[in-house]
Amino acid sequence: TVICTCLSITDKDIENAFHNGARTWEQLQQATKIGTVCGKCEKKAMELMHEFAHIY
Ligand code: FES
Repeated sequence: TVICTCLSITDKDIENAFHNGARTWEQLQQATKIGTVCGKCEKKAMELMHEFAHIY
């Protein structure tokens, strides 16, 4: 599933970044460049991060 349509970043990309230690929006941005175009994906991406935090 594509979460960031501007940069075609998927839920899998976010999961990988989470595995590599990204826990905040800033860290996720450093890892994937997500949200650096329109920023509309922030809410969805952070919801996903919270889900991963519960799973792992
Ligand atoms: Fe992610 Fe636009 S949807 S920067």
